[in-house]
Amino acid sequence: MCGIIGYTGSEDVREVLLDALELLEYRGYDSAGIAVRDKESGNTQVFKCAGRVSDLRAICATERVLCGCGIGHTRWATHGGVNDSNAHPHQVGKVTLVHNGIIENYRELITDYDLAGDLKSETDSEVVAALLNRFYEGDPAEAIKKTVAKLKGTFALVVLFADQGDTIFSTRNVSPIVATSCKEGAMLASDLTALCRFTNRYFVVPEYHILTLTADKLTLTDFDGHEVEPEYLTADWELNSAGKGGYPFYMEKEIMEQPEAIENTIANRVKSGMPDFSLDGVPDSLFTDCERISIIACGTAMHAGLVAQALVKSILHMHIEVEMASEFMYSDPVIDEKTLVIAVSQSGETIDTLEAVKYAKRRGAKCLSVINVKGSSIARESDYVLYTNAGPEIAVASTKAYTTQLAVFYLIVARMAHSRGVFTTEETQSFIRELQRTPEVMKKVLERRRDIHVVAKKVLAAKDLFMIGRGLDYSILLEGSLKLKEVSYIHSEAYASGELKHGPIALITQDTPVVAAVTQEKLMSKELSNIKEVKSRGADVVIFMKESIAESIEGEYEVFKLPDMQDEFMVMPASVALQLLAYYVSSDKGYDVDKPRNLAKVVTVE
Ligand code: F6R
Repeated sequence: MCGIIGYTGSEDVREVLLDALELLEYRGYDSAGIAVRDKESGNTQVFKCAGRVSDLRAICATERVLCGCGIGHTRWATHGGVNDSNAHPHQVGKVTLVHNGIIENYRELITDYDLAGDLKSETDSEVVAALLNRFYEGDPAEAIKKTVAKLKGTFALVVLFADQGDTIFSTRNVSPIVATSCKEGAMLASDLTALCRFTNRYFVVPEYHILTLTADKLTLTDFDGHEVEPEYLTADWELNSAGKGGYPFYMEKEIMEQPEAIENTIANRVKSGMPDFSLDGVPDSLFTDCERISIIACGTAMHAGLVAQALVKSILHMHIEVEMASEFMYSDPVIDEKTLVIAVSQSGETIDTLEAVKYAKRRGAKCLSVINVKGSSIARESDYVLYTNAGPEIAVASTKAYTTQLAVFYLIVARMAHSRGVFTTEETQSFIRELQRTPEVMKKVLERRRDIHVVAKKVLAAKDLFMIGRGLDYSILLEGSLKLKEVSYIHSEAYASGELKHGPIALITQDTPVVAAVTQEKLMSKELSNIKEVKSRGADVVIFMKESIAESIEGEYEVFKLPDMQDEFMVMPASVALQLLAYYVSSDKGYDVDKPRNLAKVVTVE
């Protein structure tokens, strides 16, 4: 969702801001804008429009002045439609502002401070600019503190004051801001992607502090005016790993990167053939002292949790629940100090997951998070973190984050099974050896991606589609179906195949193709019966099937053979195949695969 950049320094400010906004495009947005301060006149000029950063670039090209600082924003509409005036920055009197988050009490603020006459947009953000302007009497910190005291909701605010030279001010609650200073100047952003062109050293601005940036100085103070030393982190992502690397879309590149991403995720966590979290500082007591597990996540990350649930039930025989983070707090969950909460998130910023973690901790649970982005809000809020080491994931549709989350879950299950006495050392090592085969097996699927492209052509024209499977296959298909619908806009539903007869089979006709997964040997005969049922009702069926069991149906169906792994691990090759299916359908339809309509990569509103 919304992206923020602020820069003051020696480089061409406009270019820095526009380039950074392009790097933030992946978050999802519908409008973009920048404000730059003209060095000669001291005026702050705002350029903004609904549309792409390329549209904004065209507007900015018309007039060029020397600027010392500026702020920029990509907006994902929440309050007010997608149009030029709702785009950020907002300018009221001496204040120019960009905002991420939601101000819940903006209507009350308009009434209480009689701000209606100051407003030109329908946004909650402009109300903050108006309030700041109302409180501003020459002291930025005072005005910011007074304003923040009146706000209810989440916010990352970045502000220019007309009479404060080339200085940028910022504060935040929940919505993240990272900042850094380097030889080219000082800068801040909503996430690291926008900064890593300049440096890999950054810090996360603490909540309710004031950050002040000038070209040669960066100052952080708390709300009592005490200076605070920033806690710098070092990112291990290289900028070029965030480029497309010759692929037409990030999604394809990220699908292809999975073998390496899995290797990076497990490499330092296997010692003498055993799962080992000593470098992560995760103690075994976390796994032995709990009585139940609760996995909290959204979307694809939640689907990774469903696979973990199946493994925990069958291997550990423990009580486990997978909760949609958005429903969690309102469902009176059974959470106490005997519950191990595992939060899963690529971005580490999904607000529902973050709030659910805070809630679980208040109830006394210990929280382990599985996160891709280092130092993100959920990582900081958790007691322990296992990073997925997938590298930057830019395409909105999550691929390598999902399979690296699965890899971490296999490690957790193995470590837990051994520490709880369920697996012997030999059994644990054998389980880990199978996990270590994953990159090679995935490569075999990737090498045959042209065959999946052929399969994709068969579902291209579909309006509705079903994906069916049992057990782990059903969990895989929930993710495969989400992938297909989000990038191809085909209405796709994943169904446990045994449930079909209880209603949805009424929708099966010759116009509803069915994608089936058959990877679990013990369920094969039942799955094949369900497949026959849809075929006899006219559906075209494509089956993704474990190679060693596929012979039995040779010639009867369109089959893509998945290289063999033990059944518990078939999720890995099957997921890659289903990701490629979604990717090819979307690219063949000519869609912008990386930026599906209405979606945002980082979901920072509830
Ligand atoms: C789908 C997708 C989303 C995310 C979800 C959670 O491809 O990417 O469903 O999985 O929005 O995001 P994170 O993992 O950042 O918490």
